This record gives sequence, C-alpha cells and structure tokens, in this order.
Amino acid sequence: MSKVTVVGAGNVGATAANVMALREVADEVVMIDIKEGVSEGKAMDMMQTANLLDMNTRIKGVTNDYAATADSDVVVITSGIPRKPGMTREELIGVNAGIVKQVTESVLAHSPNAVIVCVSNPMDTMTYLIHKVSGLPKNRIIGMGGALDSSRFKYFLSQALKANPNEVEGFVIGGHGDTTMIPMKRYATLRGIPVSEFLSDGELDKIVSDTMVGGATLTKLLGTSAWYAPGAATAEVVEAIIHDQDAIIPCSALLDGEYGEKDLCIGVPCLLGKGGIKKIIEIPMNDDEKELFKKSAEAVRKTNAALPC
Ligand code: LAC
Repeated sequence: MSKVTVVGAGNVGATAANVMALREVADEVVMIDIKEGVSEGKAMDMMQTANLLDMNTRIKGVTNDYAATADSDVVVITSGIPRKPGMTREELIGVNAGIVKQVTESVLAHSPNAVIVCVSNPMDTMTYLIHKVSGLPKNRIIGMGGALDSSRFKYFLSQALKANPNEVEGFVIGGHGDTTMIPMKRYATLRGIPVSEFLSDGELDKIVSDTMVGGATLTKLLGTSAWYAPGAATAEVVEAIIHDQDAIIPCSALLDGEYGEKDLCIGVPCLLGKGGIKKIIEIPMNDDEKELFKKSAEAVRKTNAALPC
C-alpha cells in the first residue's frame, strides 16, 4: 500500500492531493492542517467525487493528528503563509522557517523513512532548512519549484509558438525566485526542433521574463499565490517517486560539488524515482548560462543566510 501525506490543506496542498488522487498516484492520501475541519471537509468533498470521477484513492483529512500520517512513503510540505501581491517569496522566510522546521520534526517522528517534497516558500531555502533540521540523506529531500517553473515556461512557449503545450519541451533551473530562475531557452524544443527555429531572440527573451515572474503575475491577478499548476507540479514530482518513473524533473536538490556548488539547495535536473533523487543530471552549460547559475546560487545562499534557525 502506498501512502502520501500532504501537510497544509490550503489551495496548493488540496490541489496536489486532488490531482494525486485523480491520477491514482497513491492508494491513500492524508491531508493534515492546523485549522479545525478544513482537511476533513476538503477530504470529504473530494471523496464525494470518487464515484463521479472513477477515483480509487482514499483521501483522509485530519487536524494536527500526525499519528494519522504514520508510515507515509512521501510527505509533501506546503505549510506556511503564501505571498500577497507585491511580495517576494523571500519575504516569507521569517514566518515560514519556524513552521517548516516544526512540521519536519512532526512528520519524521511518524514517517522516518519518507521522502520529503518541499513546496513552502522561499522554496529552495525551505528545502535547505529541512536538510539542516532532519539530517536525512540528501536524496530524500526535494524542492518542487523547478517542476512548476518548467511547466510555466512550456506554457509561455506554447502560447508564442501557437502550439499544443504537450508538444513543447523545456526546463527551468536555478532558484525558484522572480530574479533567480533560469529558463533554459537554448534547450527548449517543439517536438525536438529547437524553438529558435520558430521564435526570434526578442520573442524568446520575453518568454524567459514572463516565466520568471509567472508566479508574481498570478499573485497579482488572484490576490494570493497560484495553486492549480503548483498543485499539479507537486503531484508530478510525487508520482515520479512513488511509481519509480525515472523521470527527469528539475527540482531543488542539495548540491555537493555538482554545477560547482556545495551546501546549497537549488533547481537542477534530477532523476526521480523510488527513494527520491537517484541522480543529479549535469547538463552542459555555455558561459552565459554558467554565469546566470552562479548569480542564482549566490542569491539563494543570501536568502539561506537569513534563516532564523
Ligand atoms: C508560485 C508559488 C507557489 O510560483 O511559489 O506560484
């Protein structure tokens, strides 16, 4: 039996749980929240779609009861406050660090063998914090930002190409921040054909900048952080792990010399499967890309230095 816990039943956590259930990522999905009734209500609402949508996953909601999360294969941490319009993800660090630390300790007390997927912002720094407080092997802690940013990159590419988003390939590495993201335009393709065959440099640069502020654009429109793509991207990462897919997904991983960096979690292409990160893929980068990566790593390191714990 496979089991996933989602900590935080807000918009992102609940969407992740719902997508995982619909895709039958796991046999059981437990949502846990601090707000009385929210997890229970959302779980019941989702379970009432089971017969409508032919869903076989059992979804359970609990308030603060970590015993119910015991023996999860994967734990997704979405806890913390989301950003409001005009805020950066980095500004959330003070509040979210304390919450993520406490949640990490609570989940590991009941699921010592779980792989942890971090969604809370600032995501790379929260992933790093989980490493620091848990002492788990580095392959078992994964930040999901790159999966989301890559999906947004492919969306903007598909819009400019007037193509089906499913025909587009591309990925984003670096930090999950408005100025730290690196959409790898040189590697983006439409069914294997480099997108530079169809788009001008100017068009590509616009896609890159739209991708980088993709989250902020939605926050401005919605009044709070987005949830459909963040939830679905989280589900994609969990699915790769639980179903041992050997999928290559950009995720925040603890680097130990890869890409010339150490003691830092940042987005890089990861081979995901059973047990978490099986391998970090080191892709060839030109001088411009190396420079962008170095700058991104410096910025993430600066945010890490602000960690209160
Ligand atoms: C976003 C948040 C989840 O990018 O970081 O929408």
